Amino acid sequence: MKNIAVLTSGGDAPGMNACIRSIVRTASYKNIEVYGIQYGYQGLIENNLKIITNKDVGNTIHIGGTILKTARSDEFRLKKGRDKAYQNLKKNNIDGLIVLGGDGSLTGAKIFGDENKFPVIGIPCTIDNDLYGSDYSIGFASARETVVDAVDKIRDTAASHERIFIVEVMGRESGYLALESGIASGAEMILIPENKKEIKDVITDIKKINEEKKSIIIIYAEGCKLGRLDKISKKISKSIPGSNVRYSILGHIQRGGTAVPSDRILGTILGYKSVDSILNGEKNMMVGLVENKCLLTPLKEIINKERGINKEIMNISKIISNY
Ligand code: F6P
Repeated sequence: MKNIAVLTSGGDAPGMNACIRSIVRTASYKNIEVYGIQYGYQGLIENNLKIITNKDVGNTIHIGGTILKTARSDEFRLKKGRDKAYQNLKKNNIDGLIVLGGDGSLTGAKIFGDENKFPVIGIPCTIDNDLYGSDYSIGFASARETVVDAVDKIRDTAASHERIFIVEVMGRESGYLALESGIASGAEMILIPENKKEIKDVITDIKKINEEKKSIIIIYAEGCKLGRLDKISKKISKSIPGSNVRYSILGHIQRGGTAVPSDRILGTILGYKSVDSILNGEKNMMVGLVENKCLLTPLKEIINKERGINKEIMNISKIISNY
């Protein structure tokens, strides 16, 4: 193997740059050239790639987002698009591909690798932390930090005005980000899709908490789908006379910002491991960190197995938040 390529796909995640840096520097140590593909799979289809050097990745370890840019490519979902992508890899004498991304991106990686018998290694990068095969995905810890920081600030207002605040947190179908940031910010209630509840039961619980205290933080995972937050807020206000309800949708601030040290470290370790694995002949695998050990899991398993929430942590959170 002489040349490998790397791309970032789907939602950006803090720590992607630390990972790209590690891939480039590991490859250079092993005398391998790295092509950086711009704009994910779409860039590969359009042959938008260039060699990246050790120097290019200097001063990037802390920066959020991705220096390679990212995209969600509809063309890559089609066989015709994937064929074009394969032709471009061949044209540039590239013998292996490393894909940084979440569920959708790694699904694409698996299909592409199988179809073309091409060595592909995936690296889990998503603030949702919803991938099987790694205790944490790159970006999750930074997003959790951002959410906790935001909720700490919201709590000042909640306490001063004695308000009920609903704070919506990202995570797609997963409640991981909501659960861990809810615990760390001392939320009075954490609503996640893995613990389905009817709105009427939620309101009953809020009433109970409200008998004890007027300032309440409810962390609401976007995957809960209990309805629009303006409507939920109105329902709560109506059911609890005299209550003062507000909501806040944190949105994309959760995806941006400086990568926290643990994401930089995870990115560095998994970046190294991805190059090492591809050079050792591994293909169609994802590198992950499980109980502090680097593990390879077939992409087939990654996309078919549910990560699930940690039930024990979920139960602890209920006891501690006291409802
Ligand atoms: O997968 C990461 C994520 O931020 C999810 O938490 C969220 O549901 C989604 O991406 C938002 O996607 P977009 O940035 O395309 O709106």
